[in-house]
Amino acid sequence: MSSKLIAPSILAADFANLQRDIEMVNKSEADWFHIDIMDGVFVPNISFGMPVLQAISKHANKTIDVHLMIVDPDRYIKTFANLGSNILTVHYEACTHLHRTLQAIKAEGMQAGVALNPHTNINVLEDTINDIDLVCIMSVNPGFGGQSFIENTYSKVKQLKELITRKGASTKIEIDGGVTNKNAKQLVEAGADILVAGSFVFKSNKPLETITDLRTLANS
Ligand code: DX5
Ligand code: ZN
Repeated sequence: MSSKLIAPSILAADFANLQRDIEMVNKSEADWFHIDIMDGVFVPNISFGMPVLQAISKHANKTIDVHLMIVDPDRYIKTFANLGSNILTVHYEACTHLHRTLQAIKAEGMQAGVALNPHTNINVLEDTINDIDLVCIMSVNPGFGGQSFIENTYSKVKQLKELITRKGASTKIEIDGGVTNKNAKQLVEAGADILVAGSFVFKSNKPLETITDLRTLANS
């Protein structure tokens, strides 16, 4: 079985010491950089945009996993490819023509991800799961770091795992929001492949050790 991955969310980093925090992730046992882009329309918050991602890409030496919390993401697919995104995740709730959007992401050489809000049922992906490289199950309402984990997530992960198996898809399952050492193991047991962790990593006194511990727990 392949390793379970840890993706620290840069939203919780110290933006005045961004290079320091990126280098911490570079030398850690983390697998990916998770980058949250918010437009103040799809979610009630604005995070950061292209110039900041460009600065991050310059220093980051691991997979760049971009989570777009924006309306009409098709407008920026090419831009995010040019900025060095390896995985581009759009929200199901923000795409009128999801199938077309997924093809456009892949045509730019990126892996295509779909994020689902806590209220969105897994079954909406019945007809697209074979076209999706990664499903990001939101375990908080998107827009902010540091929120508490929604317990219903475990059953969604199990449902998604069942759908992936039934359709013979190779889609990976990512969990985003409120991930800590309290829920990591249970999420992996339910079927999660990638755990995003923002506050738990960056608010820790020893982020390097926190990443190692979380990764060990996820793979135990
Ligand atoms: C929430 C973002 C998450 C967030 C996770 O909208 O998509 O990636 O940064 O932060 P924590 O781990 O603090 O919940
Ligand atoms: Zn995210």
